[in-house]
Amino acid sequence: MTMPTTGVPTTATTADVEILRTRVAELLAAARRRSQLLTDIDDAELTAQHSPLMSPLVWDLAHVGSQEEIWLVRDVGGREPLRPDIDGLYDAFRHNRASRVHLPLLGPAEARAYVAEVRDKVLDVLAGHPLRGRPLVDHAFAFAMIVQHEQQHDETMLATHQLRRGPAVLDAPAPPPGRPLPREEVLVPAGPSTMGTSSEPWALDNERPAHVVDLPAFVIDTHPVTNGQYMEFVAAGGYRDPRWWSDVGWRHCVEEGLFAPRFWQQDGSGTWYRRRFGRVEPVPADEPAVHVSYHEAEAYAAWAGRRLPTEAEWEKAARYDPVSGRTRRFPWGDTDPTPGHANLGQRHLQPAPVGAYPAGASPLGVHQLIGDVWEWCASDWHPYPGFTAFPYEEYSEVFFGGDYKVLRGGSFATDTTVARATFRNWDHPIRRQIFSGFRTARDARPADLAA
Ligand code: AVJ
Ligand code: FE
Repeated sequence: MTMPTTGVPTTATTADVEILRTRVAELLAAARRRSQLLTDIDDAELTAQHSPLMSPLVWDLAHVGSQEEIWLVRDVGGREPLRPDIDGLYDAFRHNRASRVHLPLLGPAEARAYVAEVRDKVLDVLAGHPLRGRPLVDHAFAFAMIVQHEQQHDETMLATHQLRRGPAVLDAPAPPPGRPLPREEVLVPAGPSTMGTSSEPWALDNERPAHVVDLPAFVIDTHPVTNGQYMEFVAAGGYRDPRWWSDVGWRHCVEEGLFAPRFWQQDGSGTWYRRRFGRVEPVPADEPAVHVSYHEAEAYAAWAGRRLPTEAEWEKAARYDPVSGRTRRFPWGDTDPTPGHANLGQRHLQPAPVGAYPAGASPLGVHQLIGDVWEWCASDWHPYPGFTAFPYEEYSEVFFGGDYKVLRGGSFATDTTVARATFRNWDHPIRRQIFSGFRTARDARPADLAA
């Protein structure tokens, strides 16, 4: 097999195409196993609105099938539509999340039958397709896009599970233990580095094209801010002091009566507990904090005398190798993530403690950039210079310039096929039902540069 440095099999020979088909079929099957696990609950739970922030789980399931039908059965396959009558029900732009529960949606049994029927057709299309010939299908891009779409909805469905009340239905082993890191922060030297990609066949439109950014020196945390660190901010009265908050952030904090990350509660003795997928447990001090909004992250950073990293700083910390001057695919090198590199793929249903993934550190000694928690960046959601929407404007373009902040790195709920070091996520700065955390940064000072 001709294996390029991107981890995606090529289509150079007939044998290579067969390898790529097998790989795609495996990824489709793995995403579906996860979707099935997340929808393996009572019909009443599947059709309920667990939060106005989320769709009913049964909507996500059929929406995944609908997108798969539109792109792979109709467009790539050139086949007859299966259910053209339901396109509108599952168009995310036609109905907002809060209203979807009122639509005449496919019921649980119908939705399961529909996604299975679509998948049968897709596997048939895949078996006979050359996987090259136009940009949409080159390197099986459309199939990989649909895999990533399902995986992203698997993360959304997991967030719905976290919001639902009632006894736990999901379980997973604990993440590996942490260990102390030698340093709390590292210097990232000034100079040019590459941001984004033009060579990853399965990268989505907003990650393109690769371009050089020239940043001044900065200092960044070696790990995401932990629950223990965040508790100090709470205990210091951080939620009662407007000095640390932006005007809009403070107004939101007051109006919503925020007092701690979402899902935290304090008992009479002052101990913090959290609800995690239906179980209440003490908040572990050494885990990255999760379920915080951009505003909370920004306030913590101000209180700590620091700031959030820009998106360009985050990506340089994650990809830049100061020895070779090269930009890597991942912090640890060019190979795809393994379970030893990062906490991804819903193997564990929580962030791992600091230091749990020494093999995943960057050359500069920055840990847990990939996986664990999405990291809020200071940057607004904008296109890279030279961006072109592909294959549809509604994936990224319609959100550019809106009230969105960038999140990077993926969480414990993000699949490895999605969690590229170039992958860009975005959300409203008030959102915290997502698996969002952060790390802090600061400008370099003369003393840092002399050291
Ligand atoms: C990239 C996570 C912001 O969930 O809104 C799913 C991904 N786009 N279906 C979202 C997405 C279309 C998207 N995010
Ligand atoms: Fe979607």
